[in-house]
Amino acid sequence: MTNETVLDALKNVTYPGFTKDIVTFGFVKNVEIAGDKVTIVIDITSSAPEVKAQLTDEATTELKKLGFLAVDVHIDAPQPPKQMSNSVTGKNIAPHVKNFVMVSSGKGGVGKSTTSVNIAIAMAMQGKKVGILDADIYGPNIPRMMGLNNVKPEIQGNKVMPLQAYGVEMMSMGSLMEDGQSLIWRGSMIMKAIEQFLRDILWSELDVLVIDMPPGTGDAQLTLAQSVPVTAGIVVTTPQQVSLDDSKRSLDMFEKLHIPIAGVVENMSGFICPSCETESDIFGMGTSKEVAAAYNAELIAQIPIEPAIRIGGDTGKPVTFHNPDSETAKRYQTAASNLLAFIEKVNAEGGADNSAVQPTTPPGVSACSTK
Ligand SMILES: Nc1ncnc2c1ncn2[C@@H]1O[C@H](COP(=O)(O)OP(=O)(O)O)[C@@H](O)[C@H]1O
Ligand SMILES: [Mg+2]
Repeated sequence: MTNETVLDALKNVTYPGFTKDIVTFGFVKNVEIAGDKVTIVIDITSSAPEVKAQLTDEATTELKKLGFLAVDVHIDAPQPPKQMSNSVTGKNIAPHVKNFVMVSSGKGGVGKSTTSVNIAIAMAMQGKKVGILDADIYGPNIPRMMGLNNVKPEIQGNKVMPLQAYGVEMMSMGSLMEDGQSLIWRGSMIMKAIEQFLRDILWSELDVLVIDMPPGTGDAQLTLAQSVPVTAGIVVTTPQQVSLDDSKRSLDMFEKLHIPIAGVVENMSGFICPSCETESDIFGMGTSKEVAAAYNAELIAQIPIEPAIRIGGDTGKPVTFHNPDSETAKRYQTAASNLLAFIEKVNAEGGADNSAVQPTTPPGVSACSTK
């Protein structure tokens, strides 16, 4: 029996959530054989207890198959953070903020920004201190949707004061550049911009910072997960199969980055006729439920197609604030309550645990930019 035999056997143990095995990843650090006893050391980056348990089980099974009577599996993993954010030294570059919510989608135009704005305002209306960061560097739409188009922020030394509207703090690349300036960004510039948004904006002591991401699973998502502990991820999708296919990639990304999934928002889910209020099916309805369930996530809201939502976005008068009694405003409020309950649950269980995300691309997450 040699170390090579042992390593060969351990190639049957895949890292949870990936197709590659722990030997190929280079996680097996040491093998010691002493008669019928073998000791191995595995070094992993996740502090999730279920990852540790699964690897121990599978490695033990494989090594017993080789005939070892005693198998000792040591797993070196980072300590899970005791508490949210601030305790993760060096990890939270925006320590004023208690919870970060990443709003993602597989493709553009599905209503990610609309959802971010309305859920942020709904949480503020429920008494929370909320901010919204427009991290969609390519298509910064939040200023217009919040009625803050062409409003320039106040600069204090080398820091920037967030803008304010509807009881929500806001910052966007759109507020920092001249109108209509075309935005051509390289990966490294995106990472820098996101870091600066977190570090150099004078956010208050926020309960929640909602972060409207660019579509896809690229540099921005990765940078964010490396810079702050993300408490919750939300995926926005429309009900068509093609949108659902793309949203699976966003859900996969949350899993791989160890971001707890608060749920899926199904947007443009049916149409409520403004004159007779009957709901009819346009892109489909309820199709996201199954996708959410596959990731153990909830469908936290179904938002119909409603002209008032689009008008609210275009005129900077979000429906949740300006038309709080409408059916859609009520659904955004419910989504906000669901999100707040989820955040509370994550914190009660010890906080977000993406602290182990490495400063390089984690396996399986493509570093390519938006699609
Ligand atoms: N439920 C909805 N009903 C009607 N219009 C909507 C709805 N959701 C979004 N829109 C509109 O669709 C367009 C795209 O939404 P947006 O939030 O900008 O998408 P994304 O941020 O995903 O690119 C916007 O004009 C927005 O006002
Ligand atoms: Mg957008």
